[in-house]
Amino acid sequence: MAAASAPQAADEQWGSRVGFVLASAGSAVGLGNIWRFPSVAADNGGGAFVLLFLFVILLVGAPALMAEMALGRHTRRNPVDAFASLRPRSRWALAGGLGVLASFVILSYYSVIAGWVLAYALMAVRGDLVGQDATALGQTYANLAGHPWRPVFWHAIFMAMTVAVVAGGVRRGIERWAKILMPALVALLVVLGVRTLTLDAAREGAVWFFTPRWDLFTWSSVVRATGQVFFSFSLGMGVMITYGSYLGRAEDIPRSAAYVAAADAAIALLAGMIVIATLFAFGLPVQGGPGLLFITLPALLGRMPLGAALTLAFFAMVAMAALTSAVALLEVVAAFAVQRLGMARRRAVVAAAVLIFGLGVPSALSQGARPVHLLGRDFLSALDAVTSDLILPLGGLSTAVFVGWVWGVEPALRELRAGSPRFRAARVWAASVRVVIPVTVAGVLAAGLAGVR
Ligand code: PHE
Repeated sequence: MAAASAPQAADEQWGSRVGFVLASAGSAVGLGNIWRFPSVAADNGGGAFVLLFLFVILLVGAPALMAEMALGRHTRRNPVDAFASLRPRSRWALAGGLGVLASFVILSYYSVIAGWVLAYALMAVRGDLVGQDATALGQTYANLAGHPWRPVFWHAIFMAMTVAVVAGGVRRGIERWAKILMPALVALLVVLGVRTLTLDAAREGAVWFFTPRWDLFTWSSVVRATGQVFFSFSLGMGVMITYGSYLGRAEDIPRSAAYVAAADAAIALLAGMIVIATLFAFGLPVQGGPGLLFITLPALLGRMPLGAALTLAFFAMVAMAALTSAVALLEVVAAFAVQRLGMARRRAVVAAAVLIFGLGVPSALSQGARPVHLLGRDFLSALDAVTSDLILPLGGLSTAVFVGWVWGVEPALRELRAGSPRFRAARVWAASVRVVIPVTVAGVLAAGLAGVR
C-alpha cells in the first residue's frame, strides 16, 4: 500500500448541473424502480407502502444523498480516500472500501440481469416475443437464463457497453450519455404510461396501487421500504460520493439532491402504475419475481394493439435504465483504481470490467441445469442478498455516522451551504444524519440479519 504518496484528487468535473443531475438520476433509476419497486409495493400493502416509501425518502433517502454528495465534493476523491483524507490513519477508509467492494459485486450480477434485458430487446426487434402466451414466454425465459452460454454472452455485451461509456470519462462519457439516455427513457415511459393507463380496467389498477391496505403492511414492510430506498438511490456504496467528487463548489447540492430524489420516486411510481395497471387490465394476480419483467409483462404488452412496438419500447427503456446505473457502479471502481492505484482511466476501466465480468460468470450460469450455489441459494440471488441486506446498509450506516459524528455536521453544512447559501433545512438534515438514518439503518441491518425479510 502506497501509504506515503498522498491520494490523488479527481481531476475531472461535470460540464453542467443538468449533466450531474441526469447522471445521478441515471444511477438511481434502474432495475430497482421498474422491476423491484412494483412487486415489493404490491406485496406490502400497495398504497400503504407507497406512503411509507415517500416518507423514507424524505427522512432518510434525500438527506443521505446530500451527505454523500457533500462528502464527495469536499474531498474530491474516490470513496476510500474521501474517508481517509478526513481521518488519516484511521479505519474509516474501510467504510469507503466497503462501498467499492459493493459496487464491484453488485455490478457483476446486475450486468447479468441487464444482459437478459438486452437479449429480450433483440427478440423484440425481431418480433419473436409477440404472439407468445405466458406459458411460451416462461419457456423462452427458462431457455435464455438456463442456456449454457447465452447469458454469459449477453453479460459480456452489456459490460462492453458500460465500458464504452465510462472509458470516455466523466464529461465526455458518463455525462454525455446520461443526457441522451435519460430523456429517451422518460419519453418511452410516458408512451407506455399513456398506453397502459388508457386500457379499460387499468384505472382500477392504478387506484388499487395507491389504496393503502394496512393488513398487508407489517414491520418487514418498513425494512423493505428502507432497503428499497437505499438500493434505488444508490446509497451506501460510494456512488454519490464519487459523482459528488466531480461537482464544482458553486453547485447547489440540496437542490440537486431534491431533483434526483423526485425523479427517482416519480419514475418508480409511474413504473409501478404501468405494471399494476397492465396486470389488472388482463385480470392477472399481482405478484413479483423475475417472471414479472420477463414473462408477464411481455405477454400482456404483446396482446395490445401495436404490441410489438410496445414490447420493444419497454425493453429498450429497461436497458437504458440499467446502463446508466451500471455506468455509475463501474465509475466507482474505476475512480478508485485511477486515484489510488495510479492507473490510466482507460486501463482502469477495462481492468475493472474484466474482473467484474469474471465474477459475473457464475451468476450468469446460476439459473441453468447445473446451477452454481452459494450460501444455499443460487449464486446470483446469494450475491444480491448479501450486498443489499448487509453491505449496503453497513455502508449507509457508516457514511451517516461518519458525516454526522466524525467529520461533523458543521463542516458538512459549510460544504452544503457553499453552493446553497440559503439552505433552510439544516437542523432537520443534521438530525437525520446524526440520529434518524443511523437508527433506521441499524434497525434494517438487525432485521436483515435476523431474517425478517
Ligand atoms: N439504483 C439502481 C437501481 O435502482 C441500482 C444501483 C445500485 C445503481 C447501486 C448504482 C449503484 O436499479
